Amino acid sequence: MSARFASDQPSGLSNHIKNVAIVGATGRIGTHITRTLLATGAHKITALTRPSSSPLPADVTRKEIDYTVPSTLTSALQNQDFLIISLSATAPRDAQTKLIAAAAEAGVKWIMPSEYGTDVAARPDVGQDILLGPGMLAARKQIVDAGMSFVGVACGPWYEFSLSEGERSFGFELKQRRVTFYDRGETKITTSTWPLCGEAVAKLLSLPILPEGASDEQPTLSRWRNQSLRIGSFFISQREMFDSVLRVTGTKEEDWEVQYEDVGERYERAMKGVREGNMALFGVMLYARVMRGDGASDLEQGKANAVLGLGEESLDKMTKVAVAMAKEKQ
Ligand SMILES: NC(=O)c1ccc[n+]([C@@H]2O[C@H](COP(=O)([O-])OP(=O)(O)OC[C@H]3O[C@@H](n4cnc5c(N)ncnc54)[C@H](OP(=O)(O)O)[C@@H]3O)[C@@H](O)[C@H]2O)c1
Repeated sequence: MSARFASDQPSGLSNHIKNVAIVGATGRIGTHITRTLLATGAHKITALTRPSSSPLPADVTRKEIDYTVPSTLTSALQNQDFLIISLSATAPRDAQTKLIAAAAEAGVKWIMPSEYGTDVAARPDVGQDILLGPGMLAARKQIVDAGMSFVGVACGPWYEFSLSEGERSFGFELKQRRVTFYDRGETKITTSTWPLCGEAVAKLLSLPILPEGASDEQPTLSRWRNQSLRIGSFFISQREMFDSVLRVTGTKEEDWEVQYEDVGERYERAMKGVREGNMALFGVMLYARVMRGDGASDLEQGKANAVLGLGEESLDKMTKVAVAMAKEKQ
């Protein structure tokens, strides 16, 4: 049974997270998390990375790991307080399982599993429909069963990434000036930018771990023990994204090719393709499901932005970032 208050702990035990290990520091969300954590100056960051991977920021300790040799994971995780896992969706399924097992063996107390999307615990039906939920719930269970604690980040689809990814995600082909609205494009979803995700993780890991005592009402890391940390930059519909795109690009609706698709039919069509082995339709399936009008990606209730002191962001500024990203991609 974990201590409830810092005052219950043996003296000399720190009430703050200092040593943070991260898997995926070279990746999309991991880069932002690493950069923001480094900027706090309060954490010592160790990146667990495959030998073939990209260079890391100078202040990060590099530990090369081999998933086929579990002792390399356990040894890299010695003396770490918190393990952040941000593994590619294409990484082998057992990579996270092996990391969790190694973390338990090394004595790590906290893990942030590779989630960063829907609130899988609150909406297991959505998790099931997008095929990723059962694996995420199993990882959470593995962590708790091994006597560790987790915090899962629920941030909805990444805003600038999803807007710039083409028709398959938010429906926008920015360079071609084409948009597909799901139903009427009026379903609001919670969506987060990469900088917000990075800031949220850095703020969370900078909190005291436990309250000092029963009267201490300051936010603590343990407030989110074995729960989802809900965050969001914008609660927004495709129509509202489109308005922002028009402002940022200085174009008018008549400059765009606008089409509509029933979101339920879009999901069924894409899922049929996925089941037949067409993994190119996985993203189409996933976004169609989370953007269906049943609150699948509505994370507004219980959102932690204010408690963590996360700043407000400018929608148009982040749309501009997406427009620039699309120029590189599509
Ligand atoms: N909310 C959203 O819109 C959204 C979108 C995409 C992803 N996500 C979620 O965010 C998390 C991270 O995704 P990401 O896009 O940031 O990941 P990513 O950039 O594609 O990859 C992250 C890291 O995974 C490691 N990796 C890649 N291939 C691997 C392999 N075959 N075996 C072992 N490790 C491998 C690499 O680390 P090293 O090279 O350093 O070993 C890489 O830096 C996932 O949970 C994903 O589901 C959310």
